[in-house]
Amino acid sequence: MKKSEIFTYVCPYTGGSMSLTEEVVQNDIVIEGFLVNACGEKFYIRDGIPDFTWPKELHHLDAETRQSYELLAADYHKYANIPFETYRVKEDVVRERMVEKLRLSSTSKVLEIGGGDGRGAEYIVKRLGKGGKLYFQELSPAFLQHAVKRLAGYDTIDIEYSIANGCYLSFPDNAFDAAHHFGGINTFSDVARCLSELARVVRPGGRVVVGDESLGPWLRDTEFGRIMSNCNPLLKYEIPFDAIPVEARDVVVEWIMLGAFFTLDFTVATGEPEADYHVNIPSNRGGTHWTRYHGTLEGVTDEAKSLAMKAREKSGKSMHEWLDAVVKEAAQKDLNR
Ligand SMILES: C[S@@+](CC[C@H](N)C(=O)[O-])C[C@H]1O[C@@H](n2cnc3c(N)ncnc32)[C@H](O)[C@@H]1O
Repeated sequence: MKKSEIFTYVCPYTGGSMSLTEEVVQNDIVIEGFLVNACGEKFYIRDGIPDFTWPKELHHLDAETRQSYELLAADYHKYANIPFETYRVKEDVVRERMVEKLRLSSTSKVLEIGGGDGRGAEYIVKRLGKGGKLYFQELSPAFLQHAVKRLAGYDTIDIEYSIANGCYLSFPDNAFDAAHHFGGINTFSDVARCLSELARVVRPGGRVVVGDESLGPWLRDTEFGRIMSNCNPLLKYEIPFDAIPVEARDVVVEWIMLGAFFTLDFTVATGEPEADYHVNIPSNRGGTHWTRYHGTLEGVTDEAKSLAMKAREKSGKSMHEWLDAVVKEAAQKDLNR
């Protein structure tokens, strides 16, 4: 971690700023030390890599995942290409397509979480130039070490590494132009929190692209589906539709790799969508989306309703116009009395 980067990070728990203490710095790189939040919680920096793991005692799902990836790290290269080979697609094609969806420029600031041994990050850094930057996070320290080695060749590109849980991000709001993850989100302990964190740290107009296994429902009862699911239980995970944050716009979900994996991408906006609720709806009922939702009073009897419908018809107005005028007139009469 560069010493100048300290202001880039916030506490993954409080979101507040942190100070650096007891540091050992060489050529602007903080080799050892720790970042402390306002409550005194410490996040250690070892061998130049900050560890933002939060909660300190991980949810058991994340703890188990970390443990299994720690054991897998050294041999991951033997397995990484198997899904691509199995589903008859070139890894290059899949990864390029996902990175395309990030809509990067050479100066983009990009976050990758759960980046594994950095094989996906290569496709990101190849698109970055001077002024661009990749923040690479991984839950497993052993995997992160492999990523540091793999990406060492891209020394003209600014890359910052840290250990972190993708469900609790150590960055302020709107810090990135784009955020990416592939291959692990199904087993994150809180997928909704993760997607919401990604939307929080990406600026409005920026892009979020994630993907993982999820066998297309139309394939579950096929030989293909049964053979593949037998070998890989992760195919049974559903695409996390209900975890998509309200800030997501232009959401695109695509099944890839013969329908065994999905990608989910969206553009980040602020808050929930806001339609034009005031478009006039030409009909006997009349009114707008807004008046129909917010304009309801306490209701009337069957007799009053039937009379109102006849009167409305005679007046030639829509029910909204007739009712609005009648209620206004009656209210003004009572107020002036
Ligand atoms: C199958 S690997 C995929 C690695 C890489 N993204 C790729 O495309 O090759 C899944 C990765 O997600 C990481 N991971 C799992 N749970 C995580 C979490 N809660 N937060 C961050 N990373 C996590 C694992 O450590 C592992 O490196």
